[in-house]
Amino acid sequence: MNSADFDREYVWHPFTQMRDWNSPGHAPIVIVEGHGTILKAEDGREYLDGNSSIWTNLHGHRRAEIDQAIRDQLDRIAHSSFLGLTNDVAARLARELVEVTGIEDGKVFFSDDGATAMEAALKMVHQARIQRGEKGRTTFISLGGGYHGDTVGAMSAGHSPLFHQAYKPLLFETREVMSPACYRCPYNRAKPERGADARATRQCNWECVGKLNIALDELGEKASAFVLEPRVQGAAGMLMHPAGYLEKAAAACRERGVWLVLDEVMTGFGRTGTMFAYQQEEVVPDLVALAKGLTGGYLPVAATVTSREIFDAFLGDYSELKTFFHGHSYTGNALGCAAALASLKIFDSEKTLEGNQARQKKLAEGLSRFWSHPNVGDVRQEGMIGAIEIVRNFTTRERFPFGERIGHQICEAARKHGLLTRPIGDVLMLMPPYCSTDEQLAQMTEALWQGLQEVLPM
Ligand SMILES: Cc1ncc(COP(=O)(O)O)c(C=O)c1O
Repeated sequence: MNSADFDREYVWHPFTQMRDWNSPGHAPIVIVEGHGTILKAEDGREYLDGNSSIWTNLHGHRRAEIDQAIRDQLDRIAHSSFLGLTNDVAARLARELVEVTGIEDGKVFFSDDGATAMEAALKMVHQARIQRGEKGRTTFISLGGGYHGDTVGAMSAGHSPLFHQAYKPLLFETREVMSPACYRCPYNRAKPERGADARATRQCNWECVGKLNIALDELGEKASAFVLEPRVQGAAGMLMHPAGYLEKAAAACRERGVWLVLDEVMTGFGRTGTMFAYQQEEVVPDLVALAKGLTGGYLPVAATVTSREIFDAFLGDYSELKTFFHGHSYTGNALGCAAALASLKIFDSEKTLEGNQARQKKLAEGLSRFWSHPNVGDVRQEGMIGAIEIVRNFTTRERFPFGERIGHQICEAARKHGLLTRPIGDVLMLMPPYCSTDEQLAQMTEALWQGLQEVLPM
């Protein structure tokens, strides 16, 4: 048996219809190596990593500094418990995270993945409210289409019918407010315009902020925290919010003593242009969840950074049971923390954010041609995230039937041109590693364009 046979025989893949995966016509791509922006398959073929290995990778694969940091750490120790002990790399990483997030006097709680970082955030908020004597503040508010991971708490804060429908009876209730994404906003009176980002041409009265204010007023003293992915909602289809929403929403929460929980699992570490998306607006969260890019895309380490106010609610005599009784075996993993420190160092030594300014311009150039295709409804970009929404009808924004899987077909076609990326429904997306050259960025958009032409010829 070769690796693909072993996979077919023994593996169950995430977010995958396994009947299709295991059908005789499907030959899985078996990745065996990577370098920079390139992923190499077992059959020798090379692909561009167009979604940074599901939004995790930052500086490229086999980045020398990160490889070395992991090797050096391996020569000392791979892992030791964070329960009742600490380790030097995790402690140093915590200090750096407090500094880069700008959460004054903040504290860092480590876990493993985006979902666990969010799960910890939700439990912290809930318990802190009780311990502060605010027992009535039990309701989380979160955005339509929001996605925060697949654990039960993270799903409860999410509103993704496709992913969460089957689990509804397991979830706790949260108050959903409309997503402020402009392209399909029912309050945006502007007609679709080719070449124009719906955020820039929108005609509205900030109804999204109005709806949030209504929810906050209705909930009153029951509102605990507003949970959202700032500026870009990833799994909802790279929905992009107009500049100013976050600031207005944060102010509305602040006025009413409602905490702001930001999920920067996807947007963090330079993806949107600034280190964190909230840094594009005058906002500092009470809690922020970090994962994916935290280790440069190498190892599963996540962090929930909290304000001192929330942390302090857990202090007390042991017998008061104010402890945060929550944790994971691999919390503070030394190899992962060493990788994260090395990744953060690259931001400084290489001036990654400055370099990304030029890369995102190049990406924008490549994306602009998609406007000429009649089935492209929207092309949107925020930093190093590009999204192309495919529609059946440009004027009405009508979608293709779900079952046609147009986005999937296009990405499958793009593979033949050397690009690996995964659509979200009919939204094609590119999220290149920051080490991508101008040529590689152009190749990515070209491959996607070829894929689009093959599935929907003009
Ligand atoms: C915004 C956001 N939050 C949370 C998660 C969950 O992260 P993980 O898959 O690491 O659990 C994701 C994953 O895509 C995400 O995009």
